[in-house]
Amino acid sequence: MTTSPKDIPTLSDLYSSNEIPQAENESKYGYDEGLNKRVSIWRGDITKLEADMIVNAANSSLLGGGGVDGAIHRAAGPDLLEECEGLGGAETGDTKVTKGYELPSKYVAHTVGPIYSSRAVDKCAKQLKSCYQTSLESCQNHGGGAIGFSSISTGVYGYPIKDATEIAIETTRNFLEKDQSVTRVIYVVFSKKDEEVYKSIIPQYFPPPPSASSDDNQQE
Ligand code: APR
Repeated sequence: MTTSPKDIPTLSDLYSSNEIPQAENESKYGYDEGLNKRVSIWRGDITKLEADMIVNAANSSLLGGGGVDGAIHRAAGPDLLEECEGLGGAETGDTKVTKGYELPSKYVAHTVGPIYSSRAVDKCAKQLKSCYQTSLESCQNHGGGAIGFSSISTGVYGYPIKDATEIAIETTRNFLEKDQSVTRVIYVVFSKKDEEVYKSIIPQYFPPPPSASSDDNQQE
């Protein structure tokens, strides 16, 4: 059973149905309904997502592993590994694209996230930002459409989920403002906790419509 982006609510839908909590902090970006229709948070298995591209949290060998990497290789079948064997690995922060094979998605973007180190926070942040940026560019270069992201580096690689999510969402906002080819970014979260983190942070970068109540205040 696969899930198509058209069956996944957008952020605009989630705001309308009050499923996003009030922003914890002041929004850093302006309200943009068009952008809010191009972003989703979806709790599910990325190997079941029928997107144009899904993003794998790979390692530098690009030859598979555990976690989401293992799930994607198992679901895609042996041809994925065969194509990966010809890629020659990748540096941290870089992304290489393969076909999706037996996955419902057309392509897989294999991005190599940083192994988190509290002694190199700035370097890790730059590398993680590059993972999201180069993955989005890969989608743009492969015809655009819908891209599903797993939460890069936040599992085995130990990146604190809140810090990683800030980077993921801010990089996406800045990219979508300049690009029209990527029609939907779906953050695929694998736990309730991660879903709550994404929902608590996203209003800072993709704010909700100005609320009617604040308009009322202005009329008084
Ligand atoms: N669908 C969506 N998300 C998943 C799935 C899945 N089927 N399986 C795991 N996840 C989530 C995890 O819960 C975590 O939030 O993907 C996120 C990334 O976790 P990891 O897979 O551990 O990836 P990462 O932290 O980037 O570590 C990468 O782990 O598997 C190895 O080969 C991989 O060496 C690399 C390292």
